[in-house]
Amino acid sequence: MGLNIENRRYIGNKSKLLKFIDDTIKKENIDFYTFGDVFSGTGVVAEYFLNKGKEIYVNDLLFSNFVIYKALLSNEKYEEEKIIKIIDDYNKIDVEKIHDNYFSDNFSGNYYHYKDAKKIGYVREDIENRYLNKEINEREYYILISCLLYSMDKISNTVGHYESFLNKEPEYKNLQISNLNIKLYNSNSHIYNEDANSLVRKIKVDVMYIDPPYNARQYANFYHLLENVAQWKKPKVYNKAKKMERKNIMSEYCKANAKAVFSDLIENINAKYIIVSYNNTYEAKSTSSVNSITYQDMLQILEKKGKINVYETDYKFFNSGKTNLDKHKERLFVCKVRE
Ligand SMILES: C[S@@+](CC[C@H](N)C(=O)[O-])C[C@H]1O[C@@H](n2cnc3c(N)ncnc32)[C@H](O)[C@@H]1O
Repeated sequence: MGLNIENRRYIGNKSKLLKFIDDTIKKENIDFYTFGDVFSGTGVVAEYFLNKGKEIYVNDLLFSNFVIYKALLSNEKYEEEKIIKIIDDYNKIDVEKIHDNYFSDNFSGNYYHYKDAKKIGYVREDIENRYLNKEINEREYYILISCLLYSMDKISNTVGHYESFLNKEPEYKNLQISNLNIKLYNSNSHIYNEDANSLVRKIKVDVMYIDPPYNARQYANFYHLLENVAQWKKPKVYNKAKKMERKNIMSEYCKANAKAVFSDLIENINAKYIIVSYNNTYEAKSTSSVNSITYQDMLQILEKKGKINVYETDYKFFNSGKTNLDKHKERLFVCKVRE
């Protein structure tokens, strides 16, 4: 059995809230065919509706997420046998024979053991070369990178993101590359890697689902290492956490002007319904977790666009021990857009 889209650790992923989202859409009697998810993260929400026969528009600012959508959500052709053979060969590699490389030079002894790091660098370079030599097509390229991203993430010396590594030497985990469970879907997907505010100006959907970050914690900081491997431009990395330069993937939603950026987004959405995910972490103690957009802001911004109903559910919440939110609520704002 291969890996599924939800089999990764991703902050704020809505894997456990899919039923809540679906039930809310049903309660509202929303009849729809096209579904936009422009802050798609793992892509689980878009995949849920693609699986139900809807046409999806999926997008994220991070290229590493785009790669995964291209691998798992597109309908482009690929040869399964070819992928199986290549992965099989990767899993037979003798790590002792691999030379030092960009990845082992920068990420061994911190996020990975030296031998695992050498293998990650070797495999990523090999995928790049196969694509450049036209041995694999674009879909196969994205599938192989995604297999590497999912597999390497499972053995990293972290709590599940790359803000920092654990305060202990990484153990040798003997990295094995796992295959993905790729499904065939009956409807279309449109896949993007751009700023949501510019994308919404170009697309029209029945339902637009919105799940942006609501605090100062940048996803580019959490996932810089996966982004580095996905892009494979081998940039210089800095400081203890070994982050690359990330100016162009920093989100405006995590900065002081978030409210204005959110307001601009909503104003420019072309949809019959807008559904916004929102949680009450604004009561959190750590300042970086404080919500930049309050509940009242949200009502004010959405009311300009149409009629709103709010739904909520209890949801278990963890944030590395600093905050204990007893009454953590996940909310959905449903806005029926005025004609
Ligand atoms: C709360 S997460 C979404 C989680 C997602 N719903 C899931 O289930 O996995 C927010 C996402 O928005 C992305 N993001 C932040 N700013 C963005 C922007 N301006 N345009 C597009 N995506 C952005 C982040 O990279 C992150 O993946």
